[in-house]
Amino acid sequence: MSELVAKRNIPFGRPIIGDEEKQAVMDVLSGHMFVHGPQSHQFEEDFAAFTNAPAATSVASCTAGLHLAYFYKGIGPGDEVIVPAQTHTATVHAVEFVGATPVFVDAELETGNIDLDQIEAAITERTRAISIVHYLGMPVDMERLMAIANQHDLYVVEDCALAIGTYFKGVHAGLHGDLGTYSFYPVKHMTTAEGGMVISRHKELITKMERQKAFGVDAFVGQRKVPGQYDVTMLGYNYRMNELEAALGVQQIKHMPEFLRIRRANYEALEQGLRDIDEIDLFQSTHGDFQSSYYCLSVVLNDALAKKRVDIIQRLKEKGVGTSIYYPKPVAHLTYYKEKYGYTMDQFPNAARISYQSIALPVGPHLNTEDMAYIVEEFKNTLTEV
Ligand SMILES: Cc1ncc(COP(=O)(O)O)c(C=O)c1O
Repeated sequence: MSELVAKRNIPFGRPIIGDEEKQAVMDVLSGHMFVHGPQSHQFEEDFAAFTNAPAATSVASCTAGLHLAYFYKGIGPGDEVIVPAQTHTATVHAVEFVGATPVFVDAELETGNIDLDQIEAAITERTRAISIVHYLGMPVDMERLMAIANQHDLYVVEDCALAIGTYFKGVHAGLHGDLGTYSFYPVKHMTTAEGGMVISRHKELITKMERQKAFGVDAFVGQRKVPGQYDVTMLGYNYRMNELEAALGVQQIKHMPEFLRIRRANYEALEQGLRDIDEIDLFQSTHGDFQSSYYCLSVVLNDALAKKRVDIIQRLKEKGVGTSIYYPKPVAHLTYYKEKYGYTMDQFPNAARISYQSIALPVGPHLNTEDMAYIVEEFKNTLTEV
């Protein structure tokens, strides 16, 4: 195997940075406004226009946005927040940041999203909020989720880190619940290196969060009558996005329609090629009211094949096919959560199946349908080798 020279190099994710992005960053560097400048406002406007959100505020990361979501609502010690078992640790860390208790709900196998049938059983008199993630960009059924939330008067946080271009019933992710938080980490749909955005259908939420992400000041730099003079009327963090990041965002968002078109074409080509393999399951993708953002295509290996997962991943790597795992363990199985709350490995079996038996294959816009044909061929070859 090691003598094999890969015919292609297919990284799992690779940011697409053109001359416009480079120039935009250089322009910021040539000026003097590295924070509090026009780029972050422009990016917020453009992101709001793309998602059709009434308001948006840029933040340092999706994790910062998630933290602010609970901070804004005053959720804290003694409160419980329902969280998906199958997600990135950030979704749940944000609950821990404010001292509230996460209550995990298992995933459904068809999509990897939170199992809506299991939410009501997890609600107690302490529950204040429900957080969901649109897993791999497939929307949660937000109509059903909001019916549960409204019935119990719960705040709804949408973790949209993988959901730029995700729509449920024609409405963009992040606008069904109380707010949605986005990530621009390098392998995401678009990048600002590090960075995030919060959108909401409640304008007043964004207005307050703009101050909570900036120390709680009452006047931003451009609004101060006397330079340096301001008051602080609430507690706040320093969770701003800087101008270098925002300049990247302004350029990247222009490419989103094209990026999403390529993702969809790649996904469909890959799905078509893998569909007839008996030993793997594929998740549901776009249908009816559910529009995916096609973050990646994850295959779930059957029990026998799952024992050979590391071997399969290594062989694919030698053939030039980059892969990933979303996510390596159900969050409740991560040492921090297991030790703190005493979870056991037999809990959250569906999330466990997805975490321990899946391989995520790339469909990003750095790739084309020939790359997809190569992945299909080499994936099939690999299964005959192991
Ligand atoms: C579902 C989910 N939420 C949150 C995050 C954290 O995003 P960030 O790195 O922008 O804080 C990630 C990162 O991969 C993620 O996948």
